[in-house]
Amino acid sequence: MNPTPQIIVLDAGGQYCHLEARKVRDLGVYAEVRPSETRAGDLAGAKGIIISGGPASVYDPESPTCDPAIFSTGQAVLGICYGQQLMAHLLGGTVTRGEKGEYGLATLELDEADDPLFSGLAGRQQIWMSHRDVVAEPPAGFTVVGRTDTCAVAAISAAERKLYGVQFHPEVVHTLRGREYLRNFVFGVCECVPDWEPRGRVLTLEQEIRDTVGGRSVFFFVSGGVDSSVAYTLCTRALGAGRVRGVYVDTGLMREGETDFVSRLGVTVEQASDRFLGALAGVTDPERKRHIIGEEFVRVQERIIDARHIFEENWILGQGTIYPDTIESGGTAKAAVIKTHHNRVAGIRKLIESGRIVEPLKSFYKDEVREVGRELGLPAELLERHPFPGPGLAIRCLCAESGAAVRATPDGYVIPVHSVGVQGDSRSYAPVLAINASAAIDGHAALDHERATALINRLSGVNRVIAAVATRAPLAEMRVRASSLTPERIERLRRADAIVRRISHESGFDGTVWQFPVILIPLGAGVAPDSVVLRPVDSVDGMTARSVAMSPELLDRMCQELMAIPEIAGVFYDLTHKPPATIEWE
Ligand code: XMP
Repeated sequence: MNPTPQIIVLDAGGQYCHLEARKVRDLGVYAEVRPSETRAGDLAGAKGIIISGGPASVYDPESPTCDPAIFSTGQAVLGICYGQQLMAHLLGGTVTRGEKGEYGLATLELDEADDPLFSGLAGRQQIWMSHRDVVAEPPAGFTVVGRTDTCAVAAISAAERKLYGVQFHPEVVHTLRGREYLRNFVFGVCECVPDWEPRGRVLTLEQEIRDTVGGRSVFFFVSGGVDSSVAYTLCTRALGAGRVRGVYVDTGLMREGETDFVSRLGVTVEQASDRFLGALAGVTDPERKRHIIGEEFVRVQERIIDARHIFEENWILGQGTIYPDTIESGGTAKAAVIKTHHNRVAGIRKLIESGRIVEPLKSFYKDEVREVGRELGLPAELLERHPFPGPGLAIRCLCAESGAAVRATPDGYVIPVHSVGVQGDSRSYAPVLAINASAAIDGHAALDHERATALINRLSGVNRVIAAVATRAPLAEMRVRASSLTPERIERLRRADAIVRRISHESGFDGTVWQFPVILIPLGAGVAPDSVVLRPVDSVDGMTARSVAMSPELLDRMCQELMAIPEIAGVFYDLTHKPPATIEWE
């Protein structure tokens, strides 16, 4: 059983609520997330409430709000960013639209304040801001205790009522003293006592699994990812391997060595690559790829469930669901699509509906799952894995309906291969701009990520900039070839991906990035039909991401090995942040 949460984070949209809850848990205090509109009466057990940041404006009629009664229960409340604005708005202050907005690093000037939240933090300090609206006038009874050059009300306090607001984000690392603000809130204001330690929970988790499962057996679909592997291992430890069955579906779209890697966990491998690759033959459209893969998963899973009589009463389903998955705002839209496909399997639905499910990690965040995995003795190689998309290499192997030449423009070469981007709130699907790595954009070095991203914002009709690091022919002479998803191209990509992964691992570079997709594009030169794109990114949750710089030596090493593959016409380096591009190309 988890403790009763001492801190509840009200989710006001976006992903900040999870970061805030995680940072509170890092302090050793159990925190959970609830929808922002949760009634005050349902929050009664908590010592403190955090109203999270979010992208909305309090004047938008659709924007998240909260129960105003939470401000008069005597519980402490900290509003962060949008949370501060909402608190000010509901208590009679004024919020206005800022002239320019403030995004990124800023300097906070914090007054000496005689209250437990701001105690010991007075002075100038680096903070991180991301807002357009501002609190113009705090509610009656509040004191303004902090400001920046462009934000006059950056921290407010009504200490005797235990109500506080900050316009900046204490939960992000760029707010250098952020952890101290949270610690002051949790221990100084709310007087919480430490009650949460993900380490040392293995025995409790095992007991919980035994209590839930009773005398039955557990069936798992294991993906090779961290969550399902840790959940599966916990169940085998709790119940003994004989009562836990794990199956891994080899779709033929996995990375090199993946199947061997997963079988070391003791799961059975269901070979289905012919089915998947057969169903995908000739397909070029990315969403159709996803759909076909989802449908195929459904069929394979249904067959496995039928063949092993999993419907019968003595089976229950194990899943590696983690905390953000249980809350509506978690996950990306695309991940959600994949999940819908998986959840559609009638057999699985039946097990879930009848309560025959065990999800041992459902209140843990990813880093806490890694902690549990370490305690179980699982190898770092598994626990530190980068995220890998469900549809696998299929969405990293780009296709083209027909052949076409590249088009020279004053800014570079437009490559008629479409990739996905995110501009504003909508997704774009547009060609890519390639520049020579030796050339300069606007007088800056070509491998300049900020410039590349600025270029996209200036140009229309493209959503990504890649630099040609090595090519078999000048860019102007390269051509896009008509191509679809074939076993040969998947194998080519798998080989290129394995090279990049190995070098990235040997050099330690993989430990510095969040994810490192390698993409195959049908851009050829002479007899070589395809090119490879390197896409190292840093991110916190995948919602936004920064393209990461690689040293010339590292790039050079990768290029040498990749260009030794005769079918590879060129190596490119994706310089674009998200937004305006996305992490994956499709
Ligand atoms: P994007 O490309 O949207 O990716 O910037 C954000 C994160 O989501 C992963 N991703 C997927 N994961 N099924 C998945 O399970 C998918 O269809 C899918 N598409 C993207 C991506 O790898 C990144 O971590």
